Amino acid sequence: MRKPKVYVTREIPERGLKKIIERFDVEVWPEYGPPPKQIIIEKARNADALVTLLTDKIDAEVFNAAPRLKIIAQMAVGYDNIDIEEATKRGIYVTNTPGVLTETTADLTWALLMAIARRIAEADRYVREGKWKVAWHPMMLLGRDVYGATLGIIGAGRIGSAVARRAKGFNMRILYHDIVRRPDLEKEVGAEYVDLDTLLKESDFITIHVPLTKETYHMLNAEKLRLVKKTAYIVNTSRGAVIDEKALYEALKEGRIAGAALDVFEKEPISMDNPLLKLDNVVLTPHIGSASYETRSKMAEMTADNLIAFFEGRVPPNLVNPEVMKVRPLPVKDI
Ligand code: GLV
Repeated sequence: MRKPKVYVTREIPERGLKKIIERFDVEVWPEYGPPPKQIIIEKARNADALVTLLTDKIDAEVFNAAPRLKIIAQMAVGYDNIDIEEATKRGIYVTNTPGVLTETTADLTWALLMAIARRIAEADRYVREGKWKVAWHPMMLLGRDVYGATLGIIGAGRIGSAVARRAKGFNMRILYHDIVRRPDLEKEVGAEYVDLDTLLKESDFITIHVPLTKETYHMLNAEKLRLVKKTAYIVNTSRGAVIDEKALYEALKEGRIAGAALDVFEKEPISMDNPLLKLDNVVLTPHIGSASYETRSKMAEMTADNLIAFFEGRVPPNLVNPEVMKVRPLPVKDI
C-alpha cells in the first residue's frame, strides 16, 4: 500500500506533526498566514487527507477538485469553516479536537470576564499613558463585582459547563440556556435552566459557548441586545458571528450595555477601522481561547490520532459526521 498523501495547511505543534510525518507522505504550507483558497484547491487535487485550521474554508469548490480526498482532520473544536453536508455526501470524514481545549478556553473566558468587570486592560492603558496622576481616588476606575453576581451561560456544552464550575467558586447565581437541558449541571453547580430572554434580562455577565450554525448566526441581534441590563457585560469566546457585531457596537456606544470582552469577531483578523477598537468598555483578544502550549500540543496530537485511526481502518475517535460511514464504510480500500 502506498503512503496516503496528506496536505497540512499550517505548521502545527511538533507533537502532532511528527506523528503525521512518520506515517504519511506529507506537505506542509510553510507560511505564518493561511494558504489562499486556490492553493488549498491545488493541493487537495492529489491529497487523500487534509489537516485544516478554522481559517481554511473547505467547501464544494475544494471537494470538486479533490477526487481522492477521504478525510479532513481539523485542528479545532469548531468546524463551521467546513461544509459538513457536502463532505458527508461525498464520503469525506471530518474530525475535530474536542475536550482537550475545554479548560483552557474556559480559563480565557474567565480572564476576559474578570478583565472587563475590573477594567484591567483600560487600567493598564491608564498607567502606561501617564494618566495615573493621583495615587488613590475613591472613584478611580470603578468596575463591577464578579463575586456573587448572576452569570448567564448561552450554550452549556463542555466549555459552558467548565465556565459554570468556575462561577461556582465565585458564588454566582448561574443561569443557562441551551437546546437541551442539563440536569447533571443543574445538580453539580446549581445552574438554573431559563429561556434566552430571561437569561438576557437577568444576567450581570453573559457568556457565549455555542457553535456557529445557521440557527446561532446573529443569535444576539439588536432586538435581543435590548433585553440586556445596562450594567451587564457580554463575553464571547465562541464565534464572532453569533453576535451581530454592529448591533453590539451600537449598544456599547450608547451605554445600553456596560461592556464586552471579545476573543472572536465576524471578520478575523479584525480591521483596524472596526469601531469597537475605539471603545474603552471593550476588551479585545485575537482568537486565543485554546492558546496554551499544553493545549495546542494536545490538539495537534489528537488531529494526528484521528488521521492515523482512519487510515488504519478504525473509526476516528473524534468523527463529527458519523453518517459518512454509510457512504464510505471502513476500512477504506482505495488509497
Ligand atoms: C477554536 O476556536 C476552536 O474551535 O478550536
